[in-house]
Amino acid sequence: MKFFIDTANVEEIKKGIAMGLVDGVTTNPSLLSKEKKDPDAVIKEILSVVDGPVSLEVIATDAEGMCGEARKLAALGPNAVIKIPMTEEGIKAVRTLSLEGIKTNVTLIFQPVQALIAAKAGAAYVSPFIGRLDDISEKGMGIVEDICLIFANYGFETEVIVASIRNPVHVLEAALLGADIATIPFNVLKQLMNHPLTNIGIERFLKDWQSIKK
Ligand code: G3P
Repeated sequence: MKFFIDTANVEEIKKGIAMGLVDGVTTNPSLLSKEKKDPDAVIKEILSVVDGPVSLEVIATDAEGMCGEARKLAALGPNAVIKIPMTEEGIKAVRTLSLEGIKTNVTLIFQPVQALIAAKAGAAYVSPFIGRLDDISEKGMGIVEDICLIFANYGFETEVIVASIRNPVHVLEAALLGADIATIPFNVLKQLMNHPLTNIGIERFLKDWQSIKK
């Protein structure tokens, strides 16, 4: 299972890389706006520090505009992947870009057939947003299960990025389902390593060691 980090914060990305837990990065306009810096400079820095794929989202809403932005973003680095929203215009753009050899990640997926359509159009990745479904009392992980089954049924190579992850249980469930990738916010990445019994165990070992070490 690949771990992507869901952030536009370069310091968080570097910390994740130091732990060997960054197989790629996903950004979006909201994450870039949190950085309060020139987004073009932030994007270039992320592309330069990360070896794996970096998803960068288009702003245009028409296919032609999306393709124009996508070509410029793709030219910034061989690891740039273009995030395209799941709309009719988006699917047209995915088709065009895929024929040009530009990798796309279809975002804002909330039902399994949207993922099927994106895969048929030639998307390299699909991003179901599970946390936002949980927020409205739908079982977000249910669509991941369906998408994985549909892709296996037909042998699609499109990879499933479980997105909008809010907690460690989301990562556990994504792994149990065999999802290709989880894109994880930095705070959740750190939570994944913690257990209170681990801390209690370390304290006890150190205390017992001190009792025999003069
Ligand atoms: O990768 C998509 C993700 O950034 C959306 O997360 O928490 O805004 O639903 P969230």
